[in-house]
Amino acid sequence: MTARLPPSPPAGPPPTYSITLQVNGQRHELQVEARTSLLDALREQLGLTGSKKGCDRGQCGACTVLCEGRRINACLSLAVMQDGCSITTIEGLGTPQSLHPLQAAFVAEDAFQCGYCTPGQICSAAALLQEAEAGCASAVTRRWPQGPQALDEAEIRERMSGNLCRCGAYPHIVRAVLRVCAQGSR
Ligand code: FES
Ligand code: FES
Repeated sequence: MTARLPPSPPAGPPPTYSITLQVNGQRHELQVEARTSLLDALREQLGLTGSKKGCDRGQCGACTVLCEGRRINACLSLAVMQDGCSITTIEGLGTPQSLHPLQAAFVAEDAFQCGYCTPGQICSAAALLQEAEAGCASAVTRRWPQGPQALDEAEIRERMSGNLCRCGAYPHIVRAVLRVCAQGSR
């Protein structure tokens, strides 16, 4: 004779957690599930759809945002991990009336085609410029920089290698970043 197990209780909704995010200078209080990615919180709860979902697994860079000034893949980060943090998305870098120098350079250099990867490319480039200014080396840096790191095409290609572009706008993207370097407007 087999023992009968009692029926399992119906599954309730998953628990949610209260978090606070400072996004583009504005404070937001959110209720999120533990599994909610930062990307989904930004896009679906805050309506900031500039950050794109490409692969949703950390391989394309379309979701790149700045967290406390450093670039991260928002699809790989849980929203609860960023409680209390300051996030900058493409919407916070510039406005149509007052473009960020990188946004203006991307337009000037025709550095996008479909534009899907562009917000992530620009956020990544913004952090890249700060990293070079702070003297961070990359995999192709020959000598450890003593102070701000000069950026040439090889440095830019290496430092932007986490951001893929299915349209293949890479030469134009590199030129756009070089243009901002030449202007000295980091
Ligand atoms: S969507 Fe995040 S890396 Fe591709
Ligand atoms: S411009 Fe189309 S994916 Fe990059």
